[in-house]
Amino acid sequence: MTEDYRAAYLREKTLRKQAEQMLEDKSRELYDSFRKLQQAHDSMQENQKALLHNEKMASLGVLSAGVAHEINNPIGFIYSNFCTMSEGMSDIQTFVFTMDKLVNSDADGQKIRDAWREGLTRYDVEYLLMDFESLTSETIEGLERVKQIVADLKSFTREDSGEMDLVDVNECVRGAVNILSNQTKYHAQVHVDYGELPKVKGYFGKLNQVFTNMIANANQAVDENGDIHISTTYNNGYIEIRFRDNGHGISKEHMNLLFTPFFTTKPVGEGTGLGLSLSHGFIEEHNGRIKVESEIGEGTTFTIFLPPADD
Ligand SMILES: Nc1ncnc2c1ncn2[C@@H]1O[C@H](COP(=O)(O)OP(=O)(O)OP(=O)(O)O)[C@@H](O)[C@H]1O
Ligand SMILES: [Mg+2]
Repeated sequence: MTEDYRAAYLREKTLRKQAEQMLEDKSRELYDSFRKLQQAHDSMQENQKALLHNEKMASLGVLSAGVAHEINNPIGFIYSNFCTMSEGMSDIQTFVFTMDKLVNSDADGQKIRDAWREGLTRYDVEYLLMDFESLTSETIEGLERVKQIVADLKSFTREDSGEMDLVDVNECVRGAVNILSNQTKYHAQVHVDYGELPKVKGYFGKLNQVFTNMIANANQAVDENGDIHISTTYNNGYIEIRFRDNGHGISKEHMNLLFTPFFTTKPVGEGTGLGLSLSHGFIEEHNGRIKVESEIGEGTTFTIFLPPADD
């Protein structure tokens, strides 16, 4: 009896050990698989980040030629204004120094007054001062334009921090419209109607990228005399951002493919087909949605719905 009990005990002990070993092996395998899965997930996230960056850089490549042109124009007249001002300034300097010398000499009052009048005419002082005024205000305007372009470019390339901010959608749309104005001006009239909106809790950079892509798509869809209507409104608890164009439209077969990564009807070099799929992901991240309506030959309307930030 005792022997039987002992044998049973030993058998049970061996079995238990085997089971424990098996469990340990299995959990190690599980852990390894988990690690591998985590690594795959991490590298996928890295790839997605790189893809996102590439898409942004590709758009930036197209943009920078336009931006360079936009900046070059004000820089050109700012430079020329400064050259003119510098010449005028040296005339005024000569006049002031001559007068200063005369005033400090023992010349009589009449001589000084004559020299003053003669100098005013010779150096065209009245004209120079008026010219300075207009050159300065034109220069300030030019500098403000450059400043705005740089600010728009900065908002386009802005990397979102991990945290969501309170975003002014109108400001975000304005940035996208401005940054693309150099491309749209050759194809279309852009009409923007900004409504009064509550803020959105989200990522400025991502929303800006969505709006930029919407305008770029509309611009690529219209012929020379296109019209792009953009409006922002607050309706039924949702912020609506609408992009309407009178371009070539989207066929029924393509409607279901729009948000698929790499779906594009554009020639190589003109589109990677990532714009709408990224936009879709970004808008979902903001708990919003995108609606598309299109009629071949008539045009297309993309409407983005975003919930406002909680008060
Ligand atoms: N406003 C529009 N009018 C007509 N077709 C459009 C419009 N917007 C998008 N499409 C169609 O949807 C396709 C996918 O758009 P998406 O923005 O994803 O990529 P893309 O513009 O081709 O390339 P990318 O945005 O990466 O430069 C476009 O190639 C085009 O066929
Ligand atoms: Mg696009």
